Amino acid sequence: MDHAQENLELRQRLKVLEEELMRAQRLSSVGALASSITHEFNNILTTVINYAKMGLRHGDEATRTKSFDRILSAGQRAAKITTGMLAYARNSSDRIEPADLKRLLDDVLSLVQKDLQMHRIGVDLMAPSSVWAMANASQIQQLLMNLIVNARQAMTENGRLKLIVRDNKAEGWAEVIVSDSGCGIPHDKLPHIFDSFYTTKQPDARGQGGTGLGLALCRRIVEAHQGRIRVESEIGKGTTFTLKLPRSESPAGFIDTSAA
Ligand SMILES: Nc1ncnc2c1ncn2[C@@H]1O[C@H](COP(=O)(O)OP(=O)(O)OP(=O)(O)O)[C@@H](O)[C@H]1O
Ligand SMILES: [Mg+2]
Repeated sequence: MDHAQENLELRQRLKVLEEELMRAQRLSSVGALASSITHEFNNILTTVINYAKMGLRHGDEATRTKSFDRILSAGQRAAKITTGMLAYARNSSDRIEPADLKRLLDDVLSLVQKDLQMHRIGVDLMAPSSVWAMANASQIQQLLMNLIVNARQAMTENGRLKLIVRDNKAEGWAEVIVSDSGCGIPHDKLPHIFDSFYTTKQPDARGQGGTGLGLALCRRIVEAHQGRIRVESEIGKGTTFTLKLPRSESPAGFIDTSAA
């Protein structure tokens, strides 16, 4: 086998491994939400069990109907969670096409909402109804998930997560800002946070610490989009990540009702 051939094969192998890594990281970021999801499912099951018992105990039509209603909406709530998780975990195409950043952020928020609530973190979301970027939807969701999970992990109770989505027409960017009121990052550490395997998160009782791959993959994703990512941080005050992606006009046929 000549060098050129070997080179080509190695490159192809590398690409496959990079895709694998991206997928594994996507699944592990869902792992960070495991406790809040388990908690939510427990609540749902308690509702289902209690209303089933009530329906069985009381024979009257009204009580039974009410019980079924409650059981049905609890089931629908559970289905919404699993559908969201599966959609997030699914490996999808690597096409870059017009995507609404507000919607991508909303989808990620619906997955992390319980986790934020459990940690008593308030969320301020400032966004017009849609901001279009040239983006790969699943990669950008993964990126936003990583930033939001990091922000949550940096904050103690009563922290605030600020999310801004904006259309920076003048400079040609569609932007998302993820800002937390957490511990901040020391100045001398800032240049390292995007490196692979750089982490300050100690393994917990179950041996789960950080892998230090979250931001490394964020950087990769940003590069693949020819975007920018910037970080500002102040110890004890918090950290702000600004993501800039090439903006896109809203696709034909899409009517933005927010301006009306
Ligand atoms: N919002 C933030 N506030 C404070 N420190 C942060 C923040 N985001 C990242 N960091 C720092 O950057 C490091 C690297 O982050 P990264 O997401 O790459 O890895 P990790 O979160 O440690 O591990 P993983 O993402 O695999 O769980 C973190 O360990 C932390 O020290
Ligand atoms: Mg992380």
